[in-house]
Amino acid sequence: MHDLWAPCLSEDWPNLPVERAEGVHIVGHDGKTYLDFVSGFGASNVGHNHPRVIEAARKQMERMVHAPLGMFAPEPTLRLAWELGKITPGKADMFFFGNSGAEAIEGGLKLARYVTGRRAIIGFYGGFHGRTLGAATLTTSKARYRDRQGPFLPETYYVRFPYPYRSNAPTLDAVIQESLDDIDRLFRHVVLPHDVAAILLEPVQGEGGYVIAPAAWLKALREICDRHGILMIVDEVQSGFGRTGQWFASQTLGVEPDIVCMAKGIASGFPLGSTAARRELMGKWGPASHGTTYGGNPVSTAAGLATLEVIRSEGLLENARVQGAYLMEALGRLKAESPIVGEVRGVGLMTAVEFVVPGSKEPNGEAASRILKRALAAGLILYPCGHWSQTIRLIPPLVITRDQVNQGLEIFRQAVLAERV
Ligand SMILES: Cc1ncc(COP(=O)(O)O)c(C=O)c1O
Repeated sequence: MHDLWAPCLSEDWPNLPVERAEGVHIVGHDGKTYLDFVSGFGASNVGHNHPRVIEAARKQMERMVHAPLGMFAPEPTLRLAWELGKITPGKADMFFFGNSGAEAIEGGLKLARYVTGRRAIIGFYGGFHGRTLGAATLTTSKARYRDRQGPFLPETYYVRFPYPYRSNAPTLDAVIQESLDDIDRLFRHVVLPHDVAAILLEPVQGEGGYVIAPAAWLKALREICDRHGILMIVDEVQSGFGRTGQWFASQTLGVEPDIVCMAKGIASGFPLGSTAARRELMGKWGPASHGTTYGGNPVSTAAGLATLEVIRSEGLLENARVQGAYLMEALGRLKAESPIVGEVRGVGLMTAVEFVVPGSKEPNGEAASRILKRALAAGLILYPCGHWSQTIRLIPPLVITRDQVNQGLEIFRQAVLAERV
């Protein structure tokens, strides 16, 4: 193992020396071909190195690599904004382009504060929004991510995200009510709603453990936002671009956000992110109040345009729904077979298994870690999530075939069943 990366990354998994990648496969330096069920943290939705994406980027590279927005108006970036306007929830038709998920979040926070003139932001326990200081302020999936970085943004508040499996409330309605009561208490005791600029949430908490927001809770949040003039920012960085079986999870779960933050799957691994909103809102973001040198880079946006075309022409939204449903069914059977499987969760191809100590709900990160290692040795790349790293996400590229799903499932199943209980 090398020691050239900053040690803040060194515990990451699996640090595999890689040679090349294609579709759902990664070829390591060891010459071994691995099945990838992580999709580069959810970026390679159309599969690694899709030939149409590579070709679009290559052609743009030959024309012009760097064209700072504002100074120039590169065609692929204009066209991508136009195309995104057709699919982004909340009737968003104006876009700020950055380079990453964290930047998309920073843009969302700055925009919300600017247009409302308010300061406070409400986030949710278990949320993950990135590593820059504003995004890290709203990130609470693990306290380690915040270690020695404060002081954070002032006037940020956290409330519970409905997580039925880890709540003591008896029914889903009661779990939702816990979260809404937290907000109510915040408004009564800590901050008046008219001081709150935005509520920031992931429709499916990713790093926090693949926890799916209940539709009724999203509806109640929407009502709270409407009643008090608070903007709803959704972080679709991991859940966007077909992952849940629609273009965005907001559509799958039926909520209309005011601001949408997107990245990852937008350009199949080329660095790109965007903060999106409807014109009446984003049009009020005053000149010079935000900016970027590389954001909306034409090579990345050309890759983004090709990515959208591939998702459409290869029917990947449909494939995510079909393969996702199949995967969920199989994981449900695995739950019946293994007492260390606490819960199986998923929407589209955003699926995960939470591991526990048998006979309890005690999080079992140790078992998850052994399962990851066993699966890797057998040729399947997986990645954990959840506060105790007790959950393993299964997020293959959306181009995956039934055969490949079965191959991955079988390796995963054997790795789980090898746990002695
Ligand atoms: C939901 C969510 N938001 C934001 C981010 C940050 O994105 P990036 O790593 O591109 O800054 C991530 C990354 O994992 C994420 O999953």
